[in-house]
Amino acid sequence: MLLLATVINSQILPIADCPTSCGNLNIPFPFGTTSECSLDHSFLISCNHSYNPPKPFLNLGSNEVLEISLDGLLKVSSPVASNCYDDSGAETNGTISELITSKFLISNTRNKFTAVGCDTHALVRGSKGWEQMSAGCVSWCNNINSVINGTCSGIGCCQTSIPKGVKDFLVDVRSFRNHTTVKGFNPCGYAFVVEAKAFQFSSADLKSLQNRTTVPVVLDWSIGNVTCEEAQKNFWSYACKAKHSECSDSRNGFGYHCNCSTGYQGNPYLVYGCQDIDECTSFKPCEGTCTNLPGNYSCSCPKGFIGDGKKDGDGCHPKSRKANASTFFYVASGLMVPAVGSSWIFWRRKHKKVVKIRQNLFERNGGLILENMLSGLRTFQVLTAEDLKRATNNYDEDQILQRENFGIIYKGILSNQANQIVTIKKFDALDVYKIEVLVSKLVTLSQINHRNIVNLIGCCLETQVPLLVYEFISINTLYDHIHDGDLSWDIRLNIAAETAGALAYMHSTARQGPLIHGNLNSSSILLSHDYTAKVSNFALPSSEIFGDPLYLDEIGYFDDEYFNSDRLTVQTDVYCFGVVLAELLTGTKLISFDREDDLIPILDHRLVVEGKIEQLTEVAKLAQRCLSRFSEDRPSMREVVIALEDVRSSHSCSTTISSNATRQTTARRVVR
Ligand SMILES: *[C@@H]1O[C@H](CO)[C@@H](O)[C@H](O)[C@H]1NC(C)=O
Ligand SMILES: *[C@@H]1O[C@H](CO)[C@@H](O)[C@H](O)[C@H]1NC(C)=O
Ligand SMILES: *[C@@H]1O[C@H](CO)[C@@H](O)[C@H](O)[C@H]1NC(C)=O
Repeated sequence: MLLLATVINSQILPIADCPTSCGNLNIPFPFGTTSECSLDHSFLISCNHSYNPPKPFLNLGSNEVLEISLDGLLKVSSPVASNCYDDSGAETNGTISELITSKFLISNTRNKFTAVGCDTHALVRGSKGWEQMSAGCVSWCNNINSVINGTCSGIGCCQTSIPKGVKDFLVDVRSFRNHTTVKGFNPCGYAFVVEAKAFQFSSADLKSLQNRTTVPVVLDWSIGNVTCEEAQKNFWSYACKAKHSECSDSRNGFGYHCNCSTGYQGNPYLVYGCQDIDECTSFKPCEGTCTNLPGNYSCSCPKGFIGDGKKDGDGCHPKSRKANASTFFYVASGLMVPAVGSSWIFWRRKHKKVVKIRQNLFERNGGLILENMLSGLRTFQVLTAEDLKRATNNYDEDQILQRENFGIIYKGILSNQANQIVTIKKFDALDVYKIEVLVSKLVTLSQINHRNIVNLIGCCLETQVPLLVYEFISINTLYDHIHDGDLSWDIRLNIAAETAGALAYMHSTARQGPLIHGNLNSSSILLSHDYTAKVSNFALPSSEIFGDPLYLDEIGYFDDEYFNSDRLTVQTDVYCFGVVLAELLTGTKLISFDREDDLIPILDHRLVVEGKIEQLTEVAKLAQRCLSRFSEDRPSMREVVIALEDVRSSHSCSTTISSNATRQTTARRVVR
């Protein structure tokens, strides 16, 4: 037994006198400041005592650790890459930004790659397993008044996401014209990977990024490199040591996490780490009497009252009408009132008030108009705030699929007969005018039904800002799959054809004229389990709803014509579709070739080895036409559909797509 205890001690548990903090940072096991105190070397934090207070650093590098949380997040500071010029356009100084971790991954949901500047393009490179990934971002502006505080849409600031599974990065920032056209207010460009909610762009950042030289980055940490199921087979190395702990697989890559079971809290990695929560004192969940139980609690109502006694349930009601009337009587006459009776009345009043507020919001948000317009449509549901609160488990963090510039996307389950799984969009804020635009869009969108478009199935207008409810397809975007490199050419061609079909449908179907997507990119195309393309975010372009000047493609390309005219047209969608085609072909959104021989080296080599060179060439030519600088040189979506159908049916015979566009230019190339 003694021997066993030593083994556990040295391998798995921290020894008793391990420091639990460094400076102001709490360091919970599996992290530790020495190798005996941490689970393994990847959880080692070096505490540098030459600072006062001492500062914690990630073992493998100079990144200061800002926060460790037991739910699998580690926040570290990371340098900002910059590139500065003097008035004559000479480069004065520059820095790069680099982060290397031993094994942890850069969180793909919490971080954004961000570039700030008015003459700026930035590139982030990283490794994902044995592969390299890279992404770029371009940011322009002509004068400081054209930037919009709080939005990173390509004007003064641009943002893009980081793919899953990336474990290090190197950020480099450059300029097109050495900041000569913007030198009065923007001498430098900046780029960095940053925790999305820790950076709010403002025009003040253009001068010197408000003197920030580091920014916080969130890493995902996990234990080991196997799943829970595998890990549980080995009792000695299984890290969820606490009684009342549970295991969950890592969301971003390998390994697993431990959590205390519901009703318990503490550190699940320590044998006695998970302690019972006294819900009665911490949450005061009952209207009646509360009793704490191991891992749970129970509520009961006083004599004469019935109900489940829970504040978020039925609460306690008087048994009969008579009792109800007499309670009121007691209140009114100021006699001795049972405490429960008075809180019940208070609660009913509050509840009525909530109902009233919701009704007002519903009306303000155009609910009545919408209800009228939708009364004939069976499939569209006008949902209540309560429905959606229940569907998302009260907007639980765990239900978050993604954080976006405009708000948060949740996954939820509607409590209808089908227990339908849905995606719920919760916008941060919209003004009343934009809500009107949104509601009128909803009416149109609710009538759309196409197998390659994510269906809008309902909305809720009882909240400050309307919530939109879509069918849930999957969390896999085309962007993820392209970066994972797991799509064959036939599947890619199929996705291209389906996406083109969906766009052509939207451009031609609606009675009120064409519906423009306005924000198509590989992240807005979802793939179902059998790789059916589903276009999402239809007709909710940020420009109309959020007042952002639209970004066509944050990663390096933009439609010059839109850029100069500010007007969304169907040709804007064609351009964006061209970018998606380029991404399908090359994996990087870059397509620029004059002769076919030039094409092969820029194609994704996995496609080249499949051997369908003729098809690849035809689609590349089509992509170039879609990316034509002048919109009149671009084909219509209907022509694109036909061209793609021709390619699909051509196995051996070659198809020619006429390309008489003389002014055709290739899209702007960003990577040098
Ligand atoms: C602690 O920080 C100081 C100042 O940055 C540095 O010179 C020293 O090498 C660090 N010590 C360790 C042990 O890393
Ligand atoms: C944006 O924010 C900066 C500083 O935070 C402020 O000086 C500027 O006036 C703001 N611009 C607008 C348009 O609100
Ligand atoms: C998992 O981790 C173990 C020990 O750290 C290592 O030996 C093994 O190669 C890893 N396996 C994979 C698939 O990374």
